[in-house]
Amino acid sequence: MAKVYITTAIPYMNGVPHIGHAMDYCLADVCARYHRLVGDDVRMQAGTDEHGNKIQQKAEELGIPVKQYVDENSAKFKDFIARLGVEYTDFVRTTDVEHERCVQEIWKKLSGHIYKATYAGWYCTGCERYATEKEYEENGGVCPDHNKPYEKFEEENYYFRISDFKDKIREAIESKELLILPEYRAKEMLALLEESPDVSISRPKAQLAWGVPVPGDDSQVMYVWMDALANYITVLGYPESDISEWWPATAEFVGKDILRFHSIIWPAILMGLGLSLPKALVSHGMVLADGQKMSKSIGNVVDPIEVINRHGVDAFRYFFLRHIDTFADSDFTWEKFDNAYNNELANDLGNLVQRLATMFKKHNIKFEKHNVEIEKQYTELMECYEYSKAMDFVWEKVQNLNRKIDEEKPWTLAKAGEMEKLSACLNELGNGIVGVATELTPFIPSAAQKILAVFDIEVTPPLEPLFPKK
Ligand code: MSP
Repeated sequence: MAKVYITTAIPYMNGVPHIGHAMDYCLADVCARYHRLVGDDVRMQAGTDEHGNKIQQKAEELGIPVKQYVDENSAKFKDFIARLGVEYTDFVRTTDVEHERCVQEIWKKLSGHIYKATYAGWYCTGCERYATEKEYEENGGVCPDHNKPYEKFEEENYYFRISDFKDKIREAIESKELLILPEYRAKEMLALLEESPDVSISRPKAQLAWGVPVPGDDSQVMYVWMDALANYITVLGYPESDISEWWPATAEFVGKDILRFHSIIWPAILMGLGLSLPKALVSHGMVLADGQKMSKSIGNVVDPIEVINRHGVDAFRYFFLRHIDTFADSDFTWEKFDNAYNNELANDLGNLVQRLATMFKKHNIKFEKHNVEIEKQYTELMECYEYSKAMDFVWEKVQNLNRKIDEEKPWTLAKAGEMEKLSACLNELGNGIVGVATELTPFIPSAAQKILAVFDIEVTPPLEPLFPKK
């Protein structure tokens, strides 16, 4: 039994969840459930990123004390994760005293790689990072992601000497000791690494009060990413406890927009601490709404709770794990979502289960259940984090089972009184469904459990449709 530790990016607490936030949670949850399915011992972290300019500014704008604001938002994210049917084992808030204490210890351990200098640069609060001169010029002084002019910061800060680790990070990425997925993103990260300067990792308290104090210097607080990245290990108790049972992480799930922090600063921090690197950084694409980036100003932000309420949590997970590609940007539209629900879940899967179970019952056929064998091709896709492809693979089997019913027309066997043939046919189909439901367990756990309960020792047709049409 392998020990598997899985992490999710911790969202900023400057707003409420949107559908994009579901991606890290759902993908990591699939990973966790898959590993449990194959017998591994799994730990999974989730949490909330609660420091930084962005959050402080938003709370000030709303006239709410910052702590109260992050408390409220963090609770909303916890509820959201529960609504997604996502099961984590550990939850970290970056304002937890334990986390803050551990981050300060981490800072001290890295002190040989930290120096103080005056910096003048262009900052984007939306990204919570400095733009390079090249980016600043190429973008005409305006952050393309947030559509806001970069702000000029000139202040005395602490720096983290990324240059101490560049060669080792490059080697780790090239040798795939740190596997970056999708693989074409590794090249982008290597290019960014080459041009990456040392990173400013603190800000004067006068500019930013909402952060973890720098140990031994009352005038400075830590840069939010320094504090946030450390969550993956502070939640395990580092440096106060031995984390070797769980670290390195098997997979860290992040959006492509924050892969750069995880491919450069994070490995440098870990190397500075003498810790191993995560085995894989799995970066997913962005969820678009009607072909556009979601934004409050465009007014196209999709509320995930509304999506869950429309057809239930399994339908949400199904859509976001299959029709939102695991790696590429993909589009959410209500029409696509409704079509996937009606055509695929209700017709392909729901009807199949209903029709088959009804035939078992009606003709009093005994179900001879085989041991489930998870297919090699499925395993290979799951091990490579190709989750949308794994779902396509399972769905092909769903289609094949439907085709088999249409071709073999078991009801004609019943009419002709060929009960042995009928039993063989239904049993093959029933075992096929059990295989499908088992492989769907990580994706749509509650529907998969319901299907497995229908095809248990006896076959009990569902009293209500699994996916009622609306
Ligand atoms: N706080 C940082 C993460 C720190 S991890 C040590 C952050 N927060 S975020 O709220 O902006 O994003 C949280 C996660 O949600 C990231 O993985 C990000 O890529 C993801 N997404 C945010 N918007 C998204 C979409 N529209 N689509 C898909 N994922 C998106 O970055």
